[in-house]
Amino acid sequence: MEKNVEMNIPQSVAIIMDGNGRWATKRGLPRTMGHKEGAKTLEKLIGDAGRLGIKYLTVYAFSTENWKRSEDEVSALMQLFRFYRANLLKLAVANGVKLRFIGDRTRFPEDIIKSVNELEAATKDNSNMEFIVAANYGSRDEIRRAAMKYAEDIKSGKVCNEDLTEDGFADYLDTKGVPDPDLLIRTSGELRLSNYLLWQIAYSEIVVTDVLWPDFNIDELKKCIEIYNGRSRRFGGV
Ligand code: IPE
Ligand code: IPE
Ligand code: MG
Repeated sequence: MEKNVEMNIPQSVAIIMDGNGRWATKRGLPRTMGHKEGAKTLEKLIGDAGRLGIKYLTVYAFSTENWKRSEDEVSALMQLFRFYRANLLKLAVANGVKLRFIGDRTRFPEDIIKSVNELEAATKDNSNMEFIVAANYGSRDEIRRAAMKYAEDIKSGKVCNEDLTEDGFADYLDTKGVPDPDLLIRTSGELRLSNYLLWQIAYSEIVVTDVLWPDFNIDELKKCIEIYNGRSRRFGGV
């Protein structure tokens, strides 16, 4: 795919990958089939997004609230990750992609924590694109954990509370070093944030598409970017 010269490609894009369940239900399939199809969508998008020129792609894979789903659905999602981790590594290596996971990984089974650590370590020097997966991620939990880390640093005398700036606090978040999303995309039509990147999206442009996540692809991504290109970002100025 050619890099599209007339499009202004946002540097940092975040996606709420929603609609897997509806995609499956519409076809009379179990919800887990929607997740499987959704994983394939994501697999294709990693290389495509990098070639398009996106530098940071942050996707919502599993929220702190998603544990409320049935045990079957949750364990199917874990199995899916186990199945895809080798592919993910291959893709990351082939495309020069650095992998990073945000969210509280400590709640996952041991083998998954180990894989997540290994995927990060194996790709840490790649620099074409950073692909950030939000897993057991919730914005409020992230901010709570950041506040706790900050309090510890005050206690140990490492920092002094009068010095705290917004950028300084952002460094305590899981997304440390990741530029705030220019564009936030949500698939399948829902007009809410579902506890995603609340601090980071303060000035992101939001595009919601009715396309269900398993049907999303590079052309749909380009459509979202075209909409983004039509926006006027003012950041509170005039
Ligand atoms: C998004 O699809 C994937 C996850 C939250 C893991 P959903 O499973 O939420 O799909 P819908 O919203 O029920 O259609
Ligand atoms: C948000 O989708 C979480 C992910 C995409 C991983 P949900 O489907 O969980 O969000 P709600 O429940 O519709 O708000
Ligand atoms: Mg959903």
